[in-house]
Amino acid sequence: KVYRASTTAPVNIAVVKYWGKRDATLNLPTNSSLSVTLAQSDLRTLTTASCSASYPASEGDWLLLNGEPSDVSGARVQACFRELRARRAALEAADPSLPKLSTMPLHIVSENNFPTAAGLASSAAGFAALVRAIADLYELPASPSELSLIARQGSGSACRSLFGGYVAWRMGGKADGSDSMADQVAEASHWPEMRALVLVASAAKKGVSSTSGMQQTVATSSLFQERIERVVPQNMAVMEKAIQDRDFAPFAEVTMRDSNSFHATCADTYPPIFYMNDVSRAAIRAVEQINAAAGRTVAAYTFDAGPNAVIYYLEKDTELVVGTFYHVLGGEIDGWKNDAVKGLKPTT
Ligand code: DP6
Repeated sequence: KVYRASTTAPVNIAVVKYWGKRDATLNLPTNSSLSVTLAQSDLRTLTTASCSASYPASEGDWLLLNGEPSDVSGARVQACFRELRARRAALEAADPSLPKLSTMPLHIVSENNFPTAAGLASSAAGFAALVRAIADLYELPASPSELSLIARQGSGSACRSLFGGYVAWRMGGKADGSDSMADQVAEASHWPEMRALVLVASAAKKGVSSTSGMQQTVATSSLFQERIERVVPQNMAVMEKAIQDRDFAPFAEVTMRDSNSFHATCADTYPPIFYMNDVSRAAIRAVEQINAAAGRTVAAYTFDAGPNAVIYYLEKDTELVVGTFYHVLGGEIDGWKNDAVKGLKPTT
């Protein structure tokens, strides 16, 4: 008998960024962060987890990522498997009639519905889907926040992809990480007009991984102290209120300021880390022009650990924002980028 469960998890794009770890093994952050989860139909990972006593034990656990066999021996995947198996084993110990799924090899098949070549962060959706698929397979009675504790150990930002809508990852203070998890600030339906436009500035893989980049920033940047002690707590407070009030102007200003602050700490890292390129900077100028021409804030940019821009705006301003970007960047938003990732809605 083969036991099986499938699930999807969407990509999330932070408006207050996670950058810095106080514990690199448990992925415990130096600051809280907040993101918008994109709609499942737009950018997501679909994952099927299965286990069977008839799977050859000699092959062990196994993972197929976008059709390619992938290594499961890494510490992050292992941490997720270990945590989920331990919870299943506890259920089996309490109820001996349950099949011993925790002792069987796991087979995981995971596919993104967006081109990996787009250089978009996929680890968040990937680990969130992996953890939920196995939790479903094991029939664990775990809430999304509990699962976020496990997904966090796969990739920090993945803990936010277990919720739809507007999601906060509370940094927590405990050494074992048991209070460092995500919660939902508001459902997508609370502010359903929110849209995101993903501008692919480069499909190349990023130079410095976020894991290593944040370690270097923590070790060498003095601006980073200012960011985690003052800038982020203030941004979190203003952002949560802006979302509660559905007030786009402060939402946009904090989004842009927080992205700028994060990239400033990268530039203040020694040696410096540069994620944005000329196309990224052109996107920033374009947003400034759109807002200045409209005489109000209609668009906000944000950049993760790479040159691609995500532009947040409201549905009513779609023509203005998408039209201007098409005009300013010309062919840069042609092809799949224009069809597949235009006007993304947050998911519920
Ligand atoms: C810039 O979650 O990819 O996108 O915990 O090492 O896997 P690890 O890092 P990761 O870092 C994401 C950094 C960011 C900001 C954010 O998503 O909050």
